[in-house]
Amino acid sequence: MKLWPKESNPMRALSAEISIAAFDDKINSDSLEAYEDKAATLISAMAVAMVAWDRIRNGKEPVPYAMELTHAENILYMMTGKKPDPEVAKVLDICLILHADHTFNASTFACREVASTQADMYAGVLAGLAALSGPLHGGANEKAMNMMDELKNEADIKSWIKNKLTKKEKIYGMGHAVYKTYDPRATILKKLLETLSAKTGQSELYNLCSSVEDIAVKVLSEKGKDTIKPNIDFYSGTVYKMMGFPHDLFTPLFAVSRIAGWCAHIIEERFGLAQEKPSLYRPAAEYVGNYCGLVGCEYNAKSE
Ligand SMILES: CC(C)(COP(=O)(O)OP(=O)(O)OC[C@H]1O[C@@H](n2cnc3c(N)ncnc32)[C@H](O)[C@@H]1OP(=O)(O)O)[C@@H](O)C(=O)NCCC(=O)NCCS
Repeated sequence: MKLWPKESNPMRALSAEISIAAFDDKINSDSLEAYEDKAATLISAMAVAMVAWDRIRNGKEPVPYAMELTHAENILYMMTGKKPDPEVAKVLDICLILHADHTFNASTFACREVASTQADMYAGVLAGLAALSGPLHGGANEKAMNMMDELKNEADIKSWIKNKLTKKEKIYGMGHAVYKTYDPRATILKKLLETLSAKTGQSELYNLCSSVEDIAVKVLSEKGKDTIKPNIDFYSGTVYKMMGFPHDLFTPLFAVSRIAGWCAHIIEERFGLAQEKPSLYRPAAEYVGNYCGLVGCEYNAKSE
């Protein structure tokens, strides 16, 4: 990793680390037991790789994990080299749990789709990482934090949001493909943020997020979009920022949590007994466009 270009984005660094699977001496073994071992290794290795890369790109030596610390405590410890505050580590632990799994979300679906081809576990996880990186999925937490950074002045919030909506742009950290109400995970994160802001003396940032939420919900509702409410990514970036993580580690932190869910789904895909899932994911599509290559390709996906 020390030879990699220092400007490599941490999500790409994670992908590179996973694809060489250098930590797996049973790479070609595909029994259930081997898959469970790979999952346990991936859950720890992703966290180690993420923080190691952050230190290496900043010219520092990686800090080895401490056996006596929990997973969440180790992430904070390996970042800074200092034993973390137990209350802050507890908040990170809850964040890891909240992000660990969430049914057939886009990245989990990508993992399962690749696993359905009987490609190996790392191939499945790589597909999950790639899908998570997009701003409509896991990448939204970094985008939401960038929005908070732009909105330091409360007087600007309403016009900024109206301007985005007029340009048909998204307000990141809001809306959900399934929830048409407040994302329950965001309710928990908002409370954690309040606790953390009081502890770290960053209540201004908490108040800013709260105002952005209130104003965005009101403006969206005036436009007839009253089902668009904050999702988990609205508050997670701010929580991580208060803990001292740089913006470009927010989405990798999501990956470091979701790896547990991805591995469980891949194992279920390969070894589960569910009869109703396809043995190979292969959606049908109907071509409805004009001449391909000149006017553009358009397909209607068909579910069967
Ligand atoms: C997550 C998301 C893709 C779910 O979308 P969806 O339920 O499939 O809804 P659609 O994208 O079809 O949007 C329905 C309408 O609401 C609008 N909309 C949805 N989320 C919006 C948002 N965050 N900001 C502004 N408008 C939004 C869409 O533009 C669309 O408007 P239209 O009907 O006038 O074209 C969408 O809410 C989004 O892009 N959110 C921002 C990214 C984000 O936070 N992602 C993390 C999700 S956990």
